[in-house]
Amino acid sequence: MILDTLSIPTGLNCDPGRLGQLLVNLVDNAITHGAKGEPVVVHIHTVGQSLVLSVHNRGVAIPEAVQPGLFHPFKRHEVGSRKDGLGLGLYIANEICAGHRGTLEVTSNDAHGTEFVATLPC
Ligand SMILES: Nc1ncnc2c1ncn2[C@@H]1O[C@H](COP(=O)(O)OP(=O)(O)OP(=O)(O)O)[C@@H](O)[C@H]1O
Ligand SMILES: [Mg+2]
Repeated sequence: MILDTLSIPTGLNCDPGRLGQLLVNLVDNAITHGAKGEPVVVHIHTVGQSLVLSVHNRGVAIPEAVQPGLFHPFKRHEVGSRKDGLGLGLYIANEICAGHRGTLEVTSNDAHGTEFVATLPC
């Protein structure tokens, strides 16, 4: 894993434990579901008043048809998925973002790989 950018200001109005869980869920997914032997790249920085946290991996893209339901509980797709996950990680990650009045967005295609970006106005 490559932690490419780590720039966190002091005095953030956020729940650090939950933000840790958000990062763990996204990095766990990138390692578990991404291409083996390829780097997982993490950026954490601020843009304006928002903390922006992104996790990128290479590998088979998440099918477009599946993407709208990714943040619903117990949603998984079997292509390339390990069999023992519950399908809760992204639901929890999205709830943590919503709880901080933020957003979680995904971009996934074969050319670029998969990137999750959390934007949190804290
Ligand atoms: N970084 C990623 N790259 C490729 N596919 C992903 C990635 N993150 C999630 N997915 C796909 O989205 C599905 C849902 O992810 P989610 O984290 O909610 O569940 P899970 O990882 O299967 O299980 P859990 O997180 O509950 O252990 C995964 O099963 C996988 O198919
Ligand atoms: Mg997961």
